Amino acid sequence: MLFSPYTIRDVTLKNRIVMSPMCMYACDREDGTVHNWHLIHYATRAVGQVGLIIVEATAVTPQGRISARDLGIWSDDHISGLRTLTTLVHEQGAKIGIQLAHAGRKATVSGEIIAPSPIPFDDNMRTPKEMTKTEIEETIHAFQQGARRAKEADFDVIEIHAAHGYLINEFLSPLTNKRTDEYGGEDRYRFLGEVIEAIKEVWDGPLFVRISAHDYHPDGLTVNDYIDYAQRMKAQGVDLIDVSSGAVVPAKIDAYPGYQVPFAETIRRETNVPTGAVGLITSGLQAEEILRNGRADLVFIGRELLRNPYWPKTAANELGIQLEAPKPYVRGW
Ligand SMILES: Cc1cc2nc3c(=O)[nH]c(=O)nc-3n(C[C@H](O)[C@H](O)[C@H](O)COP(=O)(O)O)c2cc1C
Repeated sequence: MLFSPYTIRDVTLKNRIVMSPMCMYACDREDGTVHNWHLIHYATRAVGQVGLIIVEATAVTPQGRISARDLGIWSDDHISGLRTLTTLVHEQGAKIGIQLAHAGRKATVSGEIIAPSPIPFDDNMRTPKEMTKTEIEETIHAFQQGARRAKEADFDVIEIHAAHGYLINEFLSPLTNKRTDEYGGEDRYRFLGEVIEAIKEVWDGPLFVRISAHDYHPDGLTVNDYIDYAQRMKAQGVDLIDVSSGAVVPAKIDAYPGYQVPFAETIRRETNVPTGAVGLITSGLQAEEILRNGRADLVFIGRELLRNPYWPKTAANELGIQLEAPKPYVRGW
């Protein structure tokens, strides 16, 4: 199944291998623009036969960057570099998505940082300012503008970053959202819901949402809470939920091969929403097991693709599949 195509809306991926979004912190000019590093890095994985490449967390506002060296999509000036990137990847037969992100209280850029509630992540991080309604509206608009620019840059997929303790995750979790207005309490989903609606006004392609399905804290969310959130995403037309976990508050996580797969499996089974599995998936057999047992629809590979850009070839060998070579590489394949 790993090498079978997968169609979402009008986009067909040639296989089920997804490059997980990974920040490169490579914008040396600190202006959010695509640099040569990004072009080389992503195009290489396309040559390596990854079906879908999801570009790293890309900030919808300068203030929403994790670091000053993040990629950005807050200005029309970002579009041309991103379009060069999508063209390179498309030329190599892969599809390309972009993860739209706002770091919230985990932003380390200079100036004011914002979050649903004025609580720092830990003693080393700054205290964010509680967002006003106007700031909430502006940020939703920034996600919408990011989606519009992603479309102009010819991306195939948009993934909303609602995981890892960044802004949207901070709205979803009761540990970080202590608001008493219509964005808090029972309505913690509202912010994500409005981001999705705003994006849908300008984007009708495949829409993924990455979540942290477990807060690893006694008062935090678990996958059971995310079943409800996933149902709401499904009702809004989200095509796939990319299931990660943690990082909304400091916590010790016992990570082992496939440790997040049961979350993807639970959400898929309970809601019938397609899911992506991610986290310490490193072999073709492991990926095939996840797909064949109906635990997820796509397999996201992170660090293994940093070590080996030709991981799809490695996985194909392991599964006894003849993977077509990029023409210039036939003699060595
Ligand atoms: C260098 C690096 C940067 C990352 N940046 C992002 C990111 O931009 N967005 C995101 O959702 N996850 C990010 N992650 C998490 C990965 O996408 C992935 O979920 C995680 O590494 C677990 O998968 P793996 O065991 O296959 O690496 C990053 C991970 C690494 C190692």
